[in-house]
Amino acid sequence: MKFQGSDNYVTTPDLKLAVNAAITLKRPLLVKGEPGTGKTMLAEELAKTLGIPLLQWHIKSTTKAQQGLYEYDAVSRLRDSQMADLDGGERVKNIDNYIIKGVLWQAFTAEEPVALLIDEIDKADIEFPNDLLRELDRMEFYCYETRQLIKAKNRPLVFITSNNEKELPDAFLRRCFFHYIKFPDADTMRQIVAVHFPTLKQDLLQAAMKTFFDIRNLPGLKKKPSTSELLDWLKLLVAEDIPLEALQTQDDKVAIPPLVGALLKNEQDVTLFEKLVFMQSRNR
Ligand SMILES: Nc1ncnc2c1ncn2[C@@H]1O[C@H](COP(=O)(O)OP(=O)(O)O)[C@@H](O)[C@H]1O
Ligand SMILES: [Mg+2]
Repeated sequence: MKFQGSDNYVTTPDLKLAVNAAITLKRPLLVKGEPGTGKTMLAEELAKTLGIPLLQWHIKSTTKAQQGLYEYDAVSRLRDSQMADLDGGERVKNIDNYIIKGVLWQAFTAEEPVALLIDEIDKADIEFPNDLLRELDRMEFYCYETRQLIKAKNRPLVFITSNNEKELPDAFLRRCFFHYIKFPDADTMRQIVAVHFPTLKQDLLQAAMKTFFDIRNLPGLKKKPSTSELLDWLKLLVAEDIPLEALQTQDDKVAIPPLVGALLKNEQDVTLFEKLVFMQSRNR
């Protein structure tokens, strides 16, 4: 199994190296980076190019590690036992019927090798990563209700993403191979855009990229627009057939772009950007 990148996903050499290192080491690959830098998509594309299914676990602030293993649905069982007089209670006797299998259970018991994505692990509480250490290390866990050891038939390829909202515990980090997806430079960004909009006019792209990177470089911005925001914005520019002149002034300076709401998501940032444009126009 080796990752070579894909037609839909632009990879840098260091990203490819990191993915393959994690595969070789058989350790989870922890991918950090700003939102919208293609972390989730990396897992999807990797699974696709390797031809293996991808099981996804999207973490929320309320997600508990146990939910990834299994949950015992005691409430349904109680209800069924109260109704048992009607159907003889066959279902109630078998506790297996009330075990809800989590993604790790599914990944461990899958017949073929699979990829497993634990997406945005930093959303959960601080204990969450530690609670999964042993399971991810040993690739097994015990189900007390059914007295079963669930052991991985094939070691899944584990991806973990983080938006860097919280630090992760050291013991957890030690077990992962780590890669930080740097924000794409202009060249890489052009390649990414080309994947999504192969027929985009070069001069429009040039002007849009200039606006985009000018905005990103504004000091004091609350929320920098990311790759996915640039793509959204370009989609709108194309859909609305916005002319090149709307993006720049005569002397190639940045103008307030149309549909700026795709890039800037709060009013302070918009004001900041308007100031920059105003200053530039005065310095002309
Ligand atoms: N390297 C890339 N190649 C192609 N498209 C990309 C790349 N990085 C980001 N994108 C685009 O940006 C969008 C957001 O990526 P996503 O994986 O959801 O980001 P993250 O999970 O890091 O927040 C994707 O749907 C894709 O369209
Ligand atoms: Mg994501």
